[in-house]
Amino acid sequence: MGAFQRCINPQCQATFDVSEVLHRCPKCGSLLDVDYEWDKLQVPSSLSHFEKYWSERSNPRRFSGVWRFHELLPFAPLEECVTVGEGQTILQRNDGVAAYVGKSAGSLFLQYEGLNPSGSFKDNGMAAGTTHGRLVGAKSAACASTGNTSASLALYCSTAKFGKSIVFIGSGKIAYGKLSQALDYGARTIQIKGDFDDAMARVQEVSKALGIYLLNSLNPFRLEGQKTIMFRVLEALRWEVPDWIVVPGGNLGNSSAFGKAFIELHKLGLIKKVPRLAVVNAAGADSLYRLYNEEGLRWNGGNIDKAKIDAFYSQMDKENRRASTIASAIEINRPVNLTKCLRALDFCDGVVRKVSEQEILDAKAQIGANGFGCEPASAASVAGAKQLVAEGVIGKDERIACVLTGHQLKDPNATVAYHGNDREFYEKILGTRGVKTTEFANRPIVVDNDVDRILDLLK
Ligand code: F0G
Repeated sequence: MGAFQRCINPQCQATFDVSEVLHRCPKCGSLLDVDYEWDKLQVPSSLSHFEKYWSERSNPRRFSGVWRFHELLPFAPLEECVTVGEGQTILQRNDGVAAYVGKSAGSLFLQYEGLNPSGSFKDNGMAAGTTHGRLVGAKSAACASTGNTSASLALYCSTAKFGKSIVFIGSGKIAYGKLSQALDYGARTIQIKGDFDDAMARVQEVSKALGIYLLNSLNPFRLEGQKTIMFRVLEALRWEVPDWIVVPGGNLGNSSAFGKAFIELHKLGLIKKVPRLAVVNAAGADSLYRLYNEEGLRWNGGNIDKAKIDAFYSQMDKENRRASTIASAIEINRPVNLTKCLRALDFCDGVVRKVSEQEILDAKAQIGANGFGCEPASAASVAGAKQLVAEGVIGKDERIACVLTGHQLKDPNATVAYHGNDREFYEKILGTRGVKTTEFANRPIVVDNDVDRILDLLK
């Protein structure tokens, strides 16, 4: 059908049928891409081609912000693609946030992925991943998660008519908004004593042993869905490529998918310019930052210095350094898509930054005050943009799109601790993390239960 899987290692490039369920190349252990024989497929001659689907919204697959770009991820017949209405998310100009990061009015845009059915960008990938799962006859699916993947998997599994979904989470690490979703959507929730990296290792072993379909971003089909976030950014800019894409980095699935989207669009002649990519780590979960900026790790034409990565991780283990951040979604030590992210950074002339807990929470409060509530991890993109503008790396007038990856209600604790009056709660949630000020707090006003007092206060 024109789609196949290919090892990303240029020295290997082994290919496999789309019907095979693989997460790494069986020959060399590298990650896999979904690739296409574009010359045998009907590729649109310009991106404006997709506008014709806007009027077909009564067809759920054209309504979907993932599948209306089907021609750019054609690994399954359109009629068989799973959808629950994901990707109704568009890029929106936000001058308030632009002012906060030091940019001119009209130059900063927010891609609000919190509007997805399960409240995070994961639904883009899950629509594609469950489609592939169904294609290969999967009966059940599993993932490890810092919360959002599990919420999304649990939601999509019932739509895709899989049996029970299984989610692995670390103990005490998951925001309640996300845990509540996994439980409510009926996923078997396995809470292990350990962190996300432990959960990631266990889920791979368990899925292999029991033949369960794995839906982490290690699954290359998931990343096909996540490419469409970039297609929608371009769509909202009437197919003009922005100067920068800024995205939080956790397991590095998004950054990898965005890079692949631009590599393909460029190769197909659908874009001329390539945006620069900024991937933002939380300072408390900064493996990519250290590897890229301190160790000088690069894609290097696919010849990645594996010894450098191994030495870095073994030193991390020796020092017992473990990720810790209020942005629990990106609290990850060993990002599984590291090598694909390096490829994306290479193609998009990328940069990597890290932001403190204080910077994340202040940015989050500013995003909220300007009408786009998000969870802490998402705010890392805006905090990172602010840093890059201050450094002069991002120009004041350059057009940037910051991806807001998850909804505000995913993690109300962080929000209430920042804005609230409860000192004890603040200390418990934020104080121990070195968050000293709440400059942008919108405190609730405590008042007697007396209408005159309330009126006095509001006059
Ligand atoms: N933002 C949010 C809200 C997330 O949930 C995640 C990842 C990221 C950013 C990082 O994205 O992994 O593509 O670099 N959450 C995963 C999960 C790990 O299990 O829900 P990435």
